[in-house]
Amino acid sequence: MLRAVLLGPPGAGKGTQAVRIVEKYDVPHISTGDIFRKNIKEGTELGKKAQEYMNAGQLVPDELVVDLVVDRLSQEDCATKGFLLDGFPRTIAQAEQLDKFLAENGQKMDIVINFTVGNETLMARLTGRRVCKGCGASYHIINIPPKQEGVCDRCGGVLEQRKDDNEETAANRIKVYDEQTAPLIGYYKETGALADFNGELPLDEIFDKIVEAIGE
Ligand code: AP5
Repeated sequence: MLRAVLLGPPGAGKGTQAVRIVEKYDVPHISTGDIFRKNIKEGTELGKKAQEYMNAGQLVPDELVVDLVVDRLSQEDCATKGFLLDGFPRTIAQAEQLDKFLAENGQKMDIVINFTVGNETLMARLTGRRVCKGCGASYHIINIPPKQEGVCDRCGGVLEQRKDDNEETAANRIKVYDEQTAPLIGYYKETGALADFNGELPLDEIFDKIVEAIGE
């Protein structure tokens, strides 16, 4: 059982470490960004509403996010295994709603995994990221290149750039993070759940430190 949140700016490595954490601890991975991208792909009402915010690098309004996360957390697998939230909460209002849900259900957050990465590195990571159209695996053209350019090692799918990973939108996402999401660091420091990690270290080193902090 693990109840954890991944916190950090766009490109900090949340999604990358999430894959490893959910495999090791066998917890459901709840990425609000992935949920929105799936809805956009499927052309749902939620997808249509979220799309314009995401393409502009803005946050999707809280009222479109909170209910869907609370619904997901209410499902059986989260009650028995816990959860790894990735990209939620992103505002103080979202964090308060999450706390309310946890309190109402007699649950407690084990850890908030907070990544720190400098803006220059973030920009290079975001603009160089490529994602598999088929299985969603994430690569980086320099840091984590696929064996064959443009092709996924895992499933042979086509690699593409996310719509919000262009320079202008990525810069805006970092600005929005600083203004609206960074205050959560202070919020979680007060609860005692915050654990800081240097997100500029190599992937394996970061993961080892996370495991050390959570426990085997
Ligand atoms: P979301 O999908 O959550 O994106 P994000 O937070 O901007 O995070 P990213 O996915 O860009 O980065 P990451 O930290 O996961 O980095 P990654 O591991 O891929 O949200 C997208 C949008 O949805 C938001 O802008 C917003 O509009 C909306 N949204 C989502 N949730 C919301 C919410 N709760 N409220 C309101 N709106 C919401 O790594 C990046 C790259 O770096 C990769 O190429 C990777 O290979 C590489 N890399 C990672 N770690 C390392 C390392 N240690 N060394 C070298 N390279 C590395």
